Amino acid sequence: MAAADSALVRRAVTRYGMRLGARRFVAGEDSSQFLPVAKAANAQGFSVAATILGESVRDRCETGAVATEYCRLLRAFADDGIDANVAFKLTHVGLEIDPELAFENASTIAAAAEQTGNTVRMDMEQSRFVVPTLAIYRRLRERYVGVGFVLQSYLYRSRSDLDALLPLAPNVRIVKGAYLESPDVARPNKRDVDENYVELAELALSHDGYTAIATHDARIVDHVMEFAARRGMPKRGRFEFQMLYGIAAPLARRALERGYRVRLSLPYGENWFPYLMRRLAERPANVAFFLRGAFMR
Ligand code: FDA
Repeated sequence: MAAADSALVRRAVTRYGMRLGARRFVAGEDSSQFLPVAKAANAQGFSVAATILGESVRDRCETGAVATEYCRLLRAFADDGIDANVAFKLTHVGLEIDPELAFENASTIAAAAEQTGNTVRMDMEQSRFVVPTLAIYRRLRERYVGVGFVLQSYLYRSRSDLDALLPLAPNVRIVKGAYLESPDVARPNKRDVDENYVELAELALSHDGYTAIATHDARIVDHVMEFAARRGMPKRGRFEFQMLYGIAAPLARRALERGYRVRLSLPYGENWFPYLMRRLAERPANVAFFLRGAFMR
């Protein structure tokens, strides 16, 4: 497709995509649309992780506004009794401008979480951000207990990162990894990624802290349930399952019905285009689902 054509498609999808089908994956463009969706998820028994969509922000003022919006959200959860925490990207709050700025904004959000009796997690982005993200996590963890981070099982380094952080009794979310990475830093073979996922999950579950098993891989979900049961771990309190809103809903419901805590990662915001593209790229069948939205209104 010519560059001009693809720019046109992007503009059309950005303009009409929320109506066409993005709502399957994204809870609207602002908090007034997001909050009812979060409440509906709670009514079904799911906890929620709220994310305001956006990344790679280069404008200092915008990063402050993002932090303020997360604080507002945390207060709304407390005021309305919504079972939701927040997960944000450090490049959304300034990591690419100045790590110190990102730290200050992240501290503001973590303080709001603490004041409202809630928790906050920093997503993991491209591999070049792992070192600054974990450095910020360590600094935040000195001040706040309810702060978490993410490790990606496709990265070779994640095992040693987990080993190094286990003494902090961390709140860690384990994912496979969503970015295009060089084979120098990330396992190119999916089976290796899956195997390492299980290793990281078992290691985290065997130590103090809290583990979020974030995957739609039914075999891993079943494996973790069996592993935890064999060790006599309670179904809630030491770990939870996390899935993306709109994906693998039957698996999420099954885990919930078996008595586990299941948290849906529920994003919203005007900048939903890159998020949607990532979900479509993960599974081509989603493209058909997305397009069907255009005709089934
Ligand atoms: P895998 O890709 O092997 O898929 C297993 C099965 O799940 C598939 O067979 C299919 O049935 C289903 N499935 C997976 N993706 C689907 C899709 N898009 N649509 C429909 N079905 C799908 N990544 C990252 O790099 N940093 C992060 O901070 C996070 N955070 C995060 C939070 C949460 C709650 C989740 C669930 C995931 C992330 N991720 C992430 C994304 C993660 O790295 C990964 O890209 C996706 O979860 C897809 O991998 P699975 O673990 O689902 O396995």
